[in-house]
Amino acid sequence: MQIGVPRERKTLEKRVAITPEGANQLVRGGHTVIIEAAAGEGSGFSDEDYRAAGCKIAKTLGDVWNNAELLVKVKEPDPSEFEFFRSDLLLFDFLHLASLPEVASALLAKKVTAFAYETLQTADKRLPLLEPMSEVAGKLSVLNGSYLLLSQNGGRGVLLGGAGAAPAGHVMIVGAGIAGRAACSTAHGMGAAVEVYDISQEKLAALAKEFPGIRTVISTPESLMHGCSHADLLIGAVLVPGAATPKIITREMIRALGPRRVFVDISIDQGGCAVTSKPTTLDNPTYEVDGVIHYGVCNMPAQTPRTSTMALAAQTLQYITMLADLGAAKAIHQSSEMKSALTCFDGKLTNKPTAEALGIAYAAPAV
Ligand SMILES: NC(=O)c1ccc[n+]([C@@H]2O[C@H](COP(=O)([O-])OP(=O)(O)OC[C@H]3O[C@@H](n4cnc5c(N)ncnc54)[C@H](O)[C@@H]3O)[C@@H](O)[C@H]2O)c1
Repeated sequence: MQIGVPRERKTLEKRVAITPEGANQLVRGGHTVIIEAAAGEGSGFSDEDYRAAGCKIAKTLGDVWNNAELLVKVKEPDPSEFEFFRSDLLLFDFLHLASLPEVASALLAKKVTAFAYETLQTADKRLPLLEPMSEVAGKLSVLNGSYLLLSQNGGRGVLLGGAGAAPAGHVMIVGAGIAGRAACSTAHGMGAAVEVYDISQEKLAALAKEFPGIRTVISTPESLMHGCSHADLLIGAVLVPGAATPKIITREMIRALGPRRVFVDISIDQGGCAVTSKPTTLDNPTYEVDGVIHYGVCNMPAQTPRTSTMALAAQTLQYITMLADLGAAKAIHQSSEMKSALTCFDGKLTNKPTAEALGIAYAAPAV
């Protein structure tokens, strides 16, 4: 199969979908990999590395899309890429369509067969392609948040680990999944006073066991309100797979946080968990509401492209290989994981939570 890999277009996005090593594996398997010039540069992989791996280097974005049977990228297509959509194209990347209706409309109109990394689910309900990026974003959320808490950055001037007689700063993490756990591990390691909120008692118990000294709390409107009244850094790490994030942080809770506190909403890529959440970009990452510094970057792992590319590509390669070896129909029949990733097929939305979030009729995949 002809596999295309474009350079990412999102602001400061420097990840790339396939490493030279992964590309070489695909080439050895009889496939052709066409990668756009400089696509890997931000992750430390040169065109020469890809050429040595057996890839073809394409000069333009159009050369990649137009020659690809399977187009693999990291983030959802940029509007500049919509013109290349066609009905015999397979697309595999992060889609986040629940919060991107214009991307959904464009894919459906051109009947692209699109698979989403973030909904691909294993039999034991894990999301193996979202997990590595959630881990990176969780760790970065504490680094970004602690930086914004510095006085010169508009923050309250709190050092999360405290010092001497000065108490530790309070970090409130909502969501005890992969991103929440990673945030907890980083904040705990820094010596912060950490509180984690979730609706799953089981997940909270596992974190309490792993990180002695943290506080775990069942998430309710009342408990969240109380937490916000003393947090320095609030981190949103909530997910309902495929669906828009529930807006569980209210305007009153944001007011209760108070001026110069920081809110990092990791869940912004699915719409965000606060009524005040809105997406921002890495070149202009923050805005204020009621004096609270909001950070809503949808591609946080792009800050560490080398690590993120290697972590993501290690997980995606087996599924890219499956799609390339079998084609869409066979892959969906043989693999329940591939079927769970199918989001658009023949002009229809085949992921139920996404369809519900967008108010578009859901259709079971007729493959
Ligand atoms: N901004 C970025 O760059 C970036 C990068 C990676 C992941 N993400 C996003 O981070 C979010 C979290 O991903 P994850 O992999 O950790 O998901 P996860 O499924 O592992 O964890 C989500 C947690 O949210 C909890 N939850 C659901 N409803 C809740 C509620 N009402 N109150 C409290 N907790 C609730 C779930 O029980 C679960 O433990 C997702 O939206 C994901 O897309 C964003």
